[in-house]
Amino acid sequence: MMKKAVFSIFLLLLLLLTGCGAGEEQVAEEAVETEDKMQIGMSFDSFVIERWQRDRDVFVSTAKELGAEVNVQNANGDIEEQIAQIEYFIDKEMDVIVIICIDSDSLSSVVQKAKNAGIKVIAYDRLIKNADVDLYISFDNEMVGTMMGEGIAGYESSGGEGVETVLMLCGPHADNNVSMVEKGFREVMRREGIEIIDTMYADGWKAELAAAYVYEHADAVNRADTIMCGNDDIATAVVRALAERRLAGKIGVVGQDADLAACQRIVQGTQIMTVYKPVEKLAQKAAQCAVALGKGEETGAENMIDDGSYEVPYMALSPISVYRDNMDEVIINSGFHLKEDVYLNVPGALE
Ligand code: BGC
Repeated sequence: MMKKAVFSIFLLLLLLLTGCGAGEEQVAEEAVETEDKMQIGMSFDSFVIERWQRDRDVFVSTAKELGAEVNVQNANGDIEEQIAQIEYFIDKEMDVIVIICIDSDSLSSVVQKAKNAGIKVIAYDRLIKNADVDLYISFDNEMVGTMMGEGIAGYESSGGEGVETVLMLCGPHADNNVSMVEKGFREVMRREGIEIIDTMYADGWKAELAAAYVYEHADAVNRADTIMCGNDDIATAVVRALAERRLAGKIGVVGQDADLAACQRIVQGTQIMTVYKPVEKLAQKAAQCAVALGKGEETGAENMIDDGSYEVPYMALSPISVYRDNMDEVIINSGFHLKEDVYLNVPGALE
């Protein structure tokens, strides 16, 4: 804990003021040099989905630049493991704990325990319900859903027909983002009079469950003009399953995260659009906030959100829709992906 650092400085001052001998001064200086850095514990759901490695790398490097040390743990999708990791961070007397929660409803007691121990807690990307976290920082997830909805509503099949139906293959209910995205998406479907044929929720964000749905529900799939996929990883599995039935590019698909494979499909014509979330900005901002909270300073969050029991400080960054025609501007120019990677499978595009 930083308290040790403060104590070391106090010790040095005391020794200087009392005019102690050179040997003792040296000992005290060494204590300052090995001054404890701010300690941040970070528990991830998993690194299976492409984006999270970027989130981690940028968070860790920003925190480091700001003089903090980050202990990163991966819970591999196991909520018990995530609780154990948070308990470990509490035992280690971390200054701040940052959590990408696996289940928005299962962490309130362990978070309360951390808070009672004087540790600041940040819910990163996903809200932790009924936990009174010190900050929830994410993207505007409802807007993500609205953007996906607009992608679906604006789709015209190669035959020039508009969209009448959609299938929703979402992430799990346990992730609070899923209902926020769903809210934005359903609102656009309602407004546009598009029929939602069916909705499924892939437990643990397992894309293979969405692919299995496509294999097992031929009737629903045949009726669908479009499929809303909870993220691009699900879209990858779904498009692969559609391709086996020669339906890839015929049924319009949307996702989120701007995964490389999704960007490739967009320029190839087998995915309508994705929603790009600048995760570098999120990770950078979150690291700055973590360090501020660790120092007892304000984060500057201007909004509040209801976590089910408490109003908690909330910051939401803006997502951006990505179609074929703004791919270069949004994805390539920002350096999110390389042009040669995105256009890898488009003959002539790189000449
Ligand atoms: C995030 C998505 C991500 C998904 C699976 C959601 O909470 O908002 O960006 O694809 O989790 O990891």
